[in-house]
Amino acid sequence: MPAKEKAAAPKDAIKQLVDALNEDLAREYQAIIAYTVYSNVLSGAQWMKIAGELQKHAAEELEHAMIIADQIDYLGGMPTATPKPVKTSGKAEDMIRFDLENETETIRNYRERVKQAEAIGHYALSEQLRKIISQEKDHQHDLATALGIDVPHVFEGGA
Ligand SMILES: [Fe+2]
Ligand SMILES: [Fe+2]
Repeated sequence: MPAKEKAAAPKDAIKQLVDALNEDLAREYQAIIAYTVYSNVLSGAQWMKIAGELQKHAAEELEHAMIIADQIDYLGGMPTATPKPVKTSGKAEDMIRFDLENETETIRNYRERVKQAEAIGHYALSEQLRKIISQEKDHQHDLATALGIDVPHVFEGGA
């Protein structure tokens, strides 16, 4: 294998990581918007507690977005300005379920990102990602509790 190709590999890995982090950032924007909207439209006594929790989630998702955007910049990328689409519904349960599905998807992605970061020796990033994952797991737990269901497993047969 020519030396040139070998030297190009880490660059590709960084590019792939930056692209993936931009997907994560778009997902964080989506979460900020969804939590902002949903926390305000949830009405009824049974949803009061979760509405308050969603407000806190929104603030935490903004912190995550800041961390991810900073890391993208550090890696030489340009942070995206576009959120993933936010689903809406007139039903409280639907909104909470959308949030729960997104959190599960987010955790799945961040676990993958930890592996990618460690593969290129970027341990500062993997450490940040692990902290974010632990908050996303709290979000997932709050949502599942509000729906009265078990916390979905991110991997089949796994945690
Ligand atoms: Fe987040
Ligand atoms: Fe979250």
